[in-house]
Amino acid sequence: MYNFLTGIKSTGRPHLGNVIGVIYPTIFLTKLTKLTKNVILIANLHSLTNLKYIKNNKNNAYKILAVWLACGIDSKQFIFYRQSDITEVTELLWFFSIIYPYNRLKLVHSFKENVKKQQRINTGILTYPILMAADILISKAELVLVGKDQLQHLEIARQIAKKINNIIAKKIFTLPQSIVIENLIPGTDGTKMSKTKNNIIDLFASKKEIKKQIRKIKTQKQFSHKKKELLKDNLYNIYIRLAGKEKKEKIKKKCQMGYEHAKEELYKLIINKFKRERNLYKYYLKRKNKLETIFKKGAKKMKKIVNSTIYEVRKAFECN
Ligand code: TRP
Repeated sequence: MYNFLTGIKSTGRPHLGNVIGVIYPTIFLTKLTKLTKNVILIANLHSLTNLKYIKNNKNNAYKILAVWLACGIDSKQFIFYRQSDITEVTELLWFFSIIYPYNRLKLVHSFKENVKKQQRINTGILTYPILMAADILISKAELVLVGKDQLQHLEIARQIAKKINNIIAKKIFTLPQSIVIENLIPGTDGTKMSKTKNNIIDLFASKKEIKKQIRKIKTQKQFSHKKKELLKDNLYNIYIRLAGKEKKEKIKKKCQMGYEHAKEELYKLIINKFKRERNLYKYYLKRKNKLETIFKKGAKKMKKIVNSTIYEVRKAFECN
């Protein structure tokens, strides 16, 4: 039995990559093993490292919760933890910041990538992994489901946990283990699906918008059956991921008839396959009171989990 945690940054609606890479594996995992405390984090403080997300931050958190519910998560089995509801997490961020060396933080991949891309780098972008360590360690997570790109952040959380346990000579923090989901669905340009790369398929967008996103899928010059070529064939790869491997031959035929045709068919498949989820999403998003109640309940439960930890940490730093 394990304490489980996963999280999504609230920068808008979760896209197909999030659904296949995080939401479905979480649902699958809870069916497979007995997890004791299941926590789903909506990282609405992490989203703010890009100032454009201040606007709509509240609604974006609702959207994430609505997608989880629409995809069939049982809200009774999970604690939904909206990061900003637990102020202790930002308190821990401070204690962790004084523990973790600046020089190492500067070398984190995600930070270096941001430096390459942007001119204005705020301090929050640098301390992003420290806040992530705080929300992982405060929830006493033993298993954390993350994308491959988040593994380094998880390692930082482990280092901090070890260091503080050492300083205090007490095992306050559990060292979290990662679960990484491979075989994610590629984005429309063939690289990892991500909102910032503008290569997403948004299951919950309007039909027109979904059609547009599918039309954007980059294709090869010509379809080829050869294994080596198939691996590179982006449309084929997205299609197979959604339709299932057993449909291989059918999909090949569709691609052979022309990519335009295959795209139209893929569009139809998506609309059909996710019909229920799309309707449920609209249903939940119209009921913000219900969503807020779920967050409030989650906050109450989280407070109980974090109380003992924060007490120990304050005592250790003589801030009690
Ligand atoms: N950084 C994660 C992402 O962008 C989101 C996240 C924040 C998270 N805190 C977390 C994921 C804690 C798992 C556990 O995907």
